[in-house]
Amino acid sequence: MLVPTHCTGNNMDITQYFSKNLLTGKTVCVTGGGSGINLGIAKNFAAVGAKVAICGRTPEKLEAAAEEIREHGTEVFTQAADVRDYEALESFFRNTVETLGSVDVLVCGAAGNFIAPAEKLSANGFKTVVDIDLLGTFNASRAAFEHLQASRGSLIFISAGQSFIPYPFQAHAGAAKAGIDNLAKNLALEWGPYGIRCNTIAPGPIADTEGMRRLGNAQTNKKFAALIPLKRFGTVDEIGQLAVFLASPLAAYITGTVVVADGGQNLLGSGILQSLWSEAMTSQ
Ligand code: COA
Repeated sequence: MLVPTHCTGNNMDITQYFSKNLLTGKTVCVTGGGSGINLGIAKNFAAVGAKVAICGRTPEKLEAAAEEIREHGTEVFTQAADVRDYEALESFFRNTVETLGSVDVLVCGAAGNFIAPAEKLSANGFKTVVDIDLLGTFNASRAAFEHLQASRGSLIFISAGQSFIPYPFQAHAGAAKAGIDNLAKNLALEWGPYGIRCNTIAPGPIADTEGMRRLGNAQTNKKFAALIPLKRFGTVDEIGQLAVFLASPLAAYITGTVVVADGGQNLLGSGILQSLWSEAMTSQ
């Protein structure tokens, strides 16, 4: 019997749906591309022909990720760069263009998070998450601007449900992600005339990611998944496939949009997370 993918989770090869040459000749840059959702995005772009450049803080993670991406038969460039360091990003994009020829798509995915009650969160803890997520997204977009202008390229920001619903113990991430959604709309408005599109993906809980390991534990994540309308966490590939669609000519008239991919999780609000994440915090 054919089981619909909304029940099972979509781990299918993207080339069953999109041409292997959909993005041939294009280069995608992914910040934080060494692991998790961002690596999944990079691999899905590689599968449809794009060349890939990834940056992140840890060279070893980048090299291991590059090996996985190369399995799709594409060229890969890596450079260690923290998104809080503007000059490092300028150098990353300059070297990407020298090595791979252009910057056609920039996915701003680098993020940092943890659960912490606001009254226990230090000023530096709040600032650190805003610096990585929000300032890091602006830094990368701004540093890539002239390359995106040349290619009439596309920006994709990675946000989260915290941006439009207050989640408990997420004051820092919520502020950062709300800023990201708004920044995407501003850049869509200002850079549209240059031919640059800018959209945000707000993933819900995605299985087997550092983000979900930090927010919950095996037990609380199982309870969380059971409450989601589609009864499961999403997969890394589902976010990767969505990113490919948004960057492709199929989405040529879409800009300034936040696409929520969460199995309907936001429809429940965030009340349930109060008890689940309290439970996760006490077990840490
Ligand atoms: N609870 C409360 N505060 C925390 C915390 C936690 N679990 N983890 C870090 N902080 C605070 C630190 O105490 C510090 O504040 P202080 O100077 O007042 O003590 C501040 O955050 C910075 O921490 P530091 O470890 O120096 O920052 P970093 O730049 O090395 O790391 C983080 C950034 C904190 C976001 C770290 O968790 C990280 O590197 N995450 C990357 C991976 C990740 O989060 N992935 C999931 C993305 S969804």
